[in-house]
Amino acid sequence: MTKAIRIYANGGPDVMRWEDITLPLPSVGEARICHTAIALNFSDVNVRRGGFYMTRPPQFPLILGNEAAGIVATVGAGVRDLKPGDRVAYVGTGGPFYENTGAYAEERNVPAACLIRLPDGIAEAQAAALLLKGLTASMIVNKIFRPQPGDAILIHAAASGVGLLLCQWAKHLGATVLGTVGSPEKARIAAAHGCDHAILYREVDFVAAVRKLVPQGVAAVFDGVGKDTFTASLDCVRPFGMIVNYGNASGHVPPLDLLLLSKKGSLSVSRPGFSHYIADTQTYRAACAELFDLVARGILKVEIGRSYALCDAAAAHRDVEHRSFAGSLVLLP
Ligand SMILES: NC(=O)c1ccc[n+]([C@@H]2O[C@H](COP(=O)([O-])OP(=O)(O)OC[C@H]3O[C@@H](n4cnc5c(N)ncnc54)[C@H](OP(=O)(O)O)[C@@H]3O)[C@@H](O)[C@H]2O)c1
Repeated sequence: MTKAIRIYANGGPDVMRWEDITLPLPSVGEARICHTAIALNFSDVNVRRGGFYMTRPPQFPLILGNEAAGIVATVGAGVRDLKPGDRVAYVGTGGPFYENTGAYAEERNVPAACLIRLPDGIAEAQAAALLLKGLTASMIVNKIFRPQPGDAILIHAAASGVGLLLCQWAKHLGATVLGTVGSPEKARIAAAHGCDHAILYREVDFVAAVRKLVPQGVAAVFDGVGKDTFTASLDCVRPFGMIVNYGNASGHVPPLDLLLLSKKGSLSVSRPGFSHYIADTQTYRAACAELFDLVARGILKVEIGRSYALCDAAAAHRDVEHRSFAGSLVLLP
């Protein structure tokens, strides 16, 4: 018997229940992980609310979450490269990320191929706070738009989990970083993570603020906010610039008239999903290794904004919806 947060219907944070569950023994190729830190990702909120990303009806009751770190408790047949006591983490378990959840639990059986062994310098809570958000930042800067020295880049919600990693990475690559933030405290935290110019976008017109700082327009916008920022972001970029919309924290982006991209300076738009970029195990492991190396070299700091007991996951979800923290949240079993 172990415990997990389950939901029986979509809805607000109150639908979450802290319950006993029974786990089968690990199957062939699986390992049983005792979770020590579980990531809270915005996608967990979307899965809880329902309808957002799902391509098939949810199978209730379901356990939320799909990213965690912990200790190998036991391994199933055929698992040779892991043993009890190993420290590991995972992002997803091989199936569709939003439809194959189960991390908000004290223990979980996970395919061994999905497990990343943690280096000595990386704590389990750090790994849970880093991996999905770091893989998202990696996808953007390594595969979609790599900031060049001297580029000005606009990062929306710069103090968010992904935003703080993007600020540090873009700064490390030599960019001038502009970031929108929801409060003066978030501006301070973003500045401590490489954001050169924080713009309080709930108080000022961010397009005017960007144009004042960079009259010709920024080279790229990295946007995890979506509905409230995407369309105005088209007016922030220079000709041939790129808008990467990687998230919808404020809601879906409205339909885009492609002719606008031509009219506003032959712009490009990308709407990536991280799981496509780490679909093969070798690429996934290499991308995680790069993140660990960047942390070890002090280039990326992992900001754990808050941690909560796993049984208090509903309080954590409320805080996400109230935008009341910076950095990453972790749940502790
Ligand atoms: N494409 C991918 O593969 C991928 C991967 C990971 C994450 N994502 C998406 O990227 C986005 C950011 O992820 P994250 O982990 O950085 O999220 P997060 O840490 O929870 O931060 C989201 C931020 O968005 C801002 N925001 C604006 N409007 C909001 C609203 N109505 N409700 C809540 N927050 C709002 C808030 O910052 P301010 O207070 O500063 O406005 C908030 O702190 C999410 O939509 C997530 O689903 C996509």
